Amino acid sequence: MALTLITGGTVVGPTGRSRADVLLDGEQVAALVRPGDTTLGVDLASVAETVVDATGKYVIPGAVDPHTHMELPFGGTAASDTFETGTRAAAWGGTTTIVDFAVQRTGERVQDSLAAWFAKAEGSCAIDYGFHQILGGVDDDSLKAMDELVTEGITSFKLFMAYPGVFYSDDGQILRAMQKAATNGSMVMMHAENGIAIDVLVRQAIERGDTAPYFHGTTRPWETEEEATHRAIMLARLAGAPLYVVHMSAKQAVATLARARDDGWNVFGETCPQYLYLSLEEQLGARSEEWGDFEGAKWVCSTPLRSRAEGHQDELWRYLRTGDLSVVSTDHCPFCMKEQKELGLGDFSKIPNGIGGVEHRLDLVYQGVVDGKISLERWVELCCTTPARMFGLGDRKGVLTPGADADVVVYDPAGHTSIGYTSGADAAHGNRKTHHMNMDHSAWEGFEIDGHVDVVISRGKVLVSDGEYHGHPGHGQYLRRSTSAYLR
Ligand code: URP
Ligand code: ZN
Ligand code: ZN
Repeated sequence: MALTLITGGTVVGPTGRSRADVLLDGEQVAALVRPGDTTLGVDLASVAETVVDATGKYVIPGAVDPHTHMELPFGGTAASDTFETGTRAAAWGGTTTIVDFAVQRTGERVQDSLAAWFAKAEGSCAIDYGFHQILGGVDDDSLKAMDELVTEGITSFKLFMAYPGVFYSDDGQILRAMQKAATNGSMVMMHAENGIAIDVLVRQAIERGDTAPYFHGTTRPWETEEEATHRAIMLARLAGAPLYVVHMSAKQAVATLARARDDGWNVFGETCPQYLYLSLEEQLGARSEEWGDFEGAKWVCSTPLRSRAEGHQDELWRYLRTGDLSVVSTDHCPFCMKEQKELGLGDFSKIPNGIGGVEHRLDLVYQGVVDGKISLERWVELCCTTPARMFGLGDRKGVLTPGADADVVVYDPAGHTSIGYTSGADAAHGNRKTHHMNMDHSAWEGFEIDGHVDVVISRGKVLVSDGEYHGHPGHGQYLRRSTSAYLR
């Protein structure tokens, strides 16, 4: 098998950092070796086929994004990244594993929807991938399907308390799915927003003439997230099931989750970079020459961006530090402005919900290290180790230990990353994409990161080095997942 040696770097894991060379044997990590260690009796650099110089850089496990939506059908259109384009962009940003959501819509057989997702992903992915299953309602058939899917490596199910008539499940359906999860060891992932109340507020806003994207935020106030989070926690407690609340943005909702955790309940929360950095006032309320007040459509997602004046962003960083939020995912769900977000011109409720960011999570969360908000180790834990362990991939992904998959990122803390679609000097010369996602804009336009993803390796294959891409569709393999390492 081909040997790869990564020399001279600082290996960072969730529990600490150390100077070590990392030896990869084919698709697996073989050993971590003290620099200059001669006990093996061989000069590893001379026997390795590939040597990566990581001097002055961090060597971390490939990042795991447990929340993406490639090709998600939504609002009369579909997310603009295919598995091919989305996983290539992920690789550029140091993510070597995604867990995407297969989508069952009401009336469809769960198994058929999953088969459709396998067909989309197979042969297309640049990096390894697994699936969660979205249940668009719960009935006897879908409860039976939950058992079947767990044996096929799909061990988590997303339910929606929002989007009545589309993905929505009522409390009885949710309780039944949670009872099933309690018996088969799977994890219920909850989109926790009170969709019934939100629909009333949305209708009233449109009737008043408040049709701009800004009102997407004001019609999904924090109370609707906090109430739904509380209800989901209570239903999970009734069922004796664990719970993972996705894309949390309201500080009050996380406070409720934190109280349940303090009481010893098995509940977890995830947030996303957009909720850590962006806001109702600055983004949803944005105006531009091109789009007027429709500029804010770029940031229409649910849960919505929250008010900076109310201090949600700082509180979320704090909850990442305290451990009450366990994971940062992207909720990557990209839509172009042209022909997609545009569907909601004159009516914000018709804007497809979602933000693209699968390429930028590692960088954006690393900026939190530079800014003193989290430690280097916590960065790795939030982006790599915990997502893998949370979703049954911990033996292979999110760690650099012998026997784990040879997924590695060499990160340069002295490097720099300019994010955007028309960023820096090139903006003056017309549109130049500086990201690789299939989008006609960037939600992260103008963000400057004090670090850089230098080298990306997936199962021993170098995907990115020296600013060049060496991956190909089909390298990525399907990951049959175990149940969560956090169940008890
Ligand atoms: O706005 C969002 N989050 N779009 C993706 C679908 C979801 O609810 O996660
Ligand atoms: Zn959701
Ligand atoms: Zn999502």
